[in-house]
Amino acid sequence: MGPRPGSNPSKGFERRTVDRLPLNKALEQARDLSAKGILSALTGLESPVAQAVAHAVNGGKGLRAFLVLESARIHGISPDRAAPAAAAIEAMHAYSLVHDDLPCLDNDDLRRGQPTVHVKWDEATAILAGDALHSLAFQLVMDVGTSAENKVCLSQTLARAAGLRGMVGGQEMDIAAETSLKQLTLGEITTLQTGKTGALIRWSAMAGPRIVGAETNSLDIFGTCLGLAFQIADDILDITGDVTKVGKAVGKDAVAGKATFVSHLGLDGARKYAHQKIDEACMALSECGPDAETLRQAARFVISRDT
Ligand code: IPE
Ligand code: IPE
Ligand code: MG
Ligand code: MG
Ligand code: MG
Repeated sequence: MGPRPGSNPSKGFERRTVDRLPLNKALEQARDLSAKGILSALTGLESPVAQAVAHAVNGGKGLRAFLVLESARIHGISPDRAAPAAAAIEAMHAYSLVHDDLPCLDNDDLRRGQPTVHVKWDEATAILAGDALHSLAFQLVMDVGTSAENKVCLSQTLARAAGLRGMVGGQEMDIAAETSLKQLTLGEITTLQTGKTGALIRWSAMAGPRIVGAETNSLDIFGTCLGLAFQIADDILDITGDVTKVGKAVGKDAVAGKATFVSHLGLDGARKYAHQKIDEACMALSECGPDAETLRQAARFVISRDT
């Protein structure tokens, strides 16, 4: 992974080797650092919306924060230096979930084993908490320890990943499919999933090289395949999962008429496709050698998880 033409990867920061952690420790570190970043931005705020923001960022797996820290680590960037980008993507992800759970979207009462924000408070609080988290993501990404040029790249790509060409665009297709008279094609479902879930996961995997202005190709392929496999696993868990483990309602997608890989290929076909995507993701990391082993563990976890 060489530098992007015209960029200066070091930009005043010394490149060191940062020790690799096993997946469970690396996820724990990612949850910790991202929560600290978000909660410290709330210091002194006690309003219901501030409390709702704190509630919404608590209890996730921390996969996106992990991808940021780990893609940074393999580029010699310390967790502390990359932590604001990890906090930023977890804030953006939490916003997407708070709004996804609203009655006008998926109408869910349970998230991460806790009542959703609009249930614990009300819809106005949930909309505002989501808005606050969205803004906070851009505030946080500006604190990453890198040059102004690299920060612009991180925030511009984050805006694109979260917006109509990414998460919001995918959510629009997801909701439209519920009432559409014609079934989406496999290509359309791929576009939907690549947007609604894939875009933020892809951004997370590409954040590390972007912090130092390095080449993003391998992690682009890795993040794209991982994002798709991740949503397929989520759709499988909606059918086979246990509510006490996944911490959210299950068995709702088919009833709502969601267009998913499972609705199109069946459970076995969807599983097979997700495995193919994970093989592709791991293959994209072949040039990184053993240093990318925790990223490979994460890829395998994505399709074997029960949470
Ligand atoms: C849930 O994402 C929403 C999807 C994109 C499928 P996660 O399963 O990563 O949720 P948390 O952050 O661990 O709660
Ligand atoms: C939501 O996908 C993805 C986003 C929040 C953008 P789902 O609607 O399948 O996620 P869950 O199952 O509610 O976590
Ligand atoms: Mg949804
Ligand atoms: Mg949902
Ligand atoms: Mg789901």
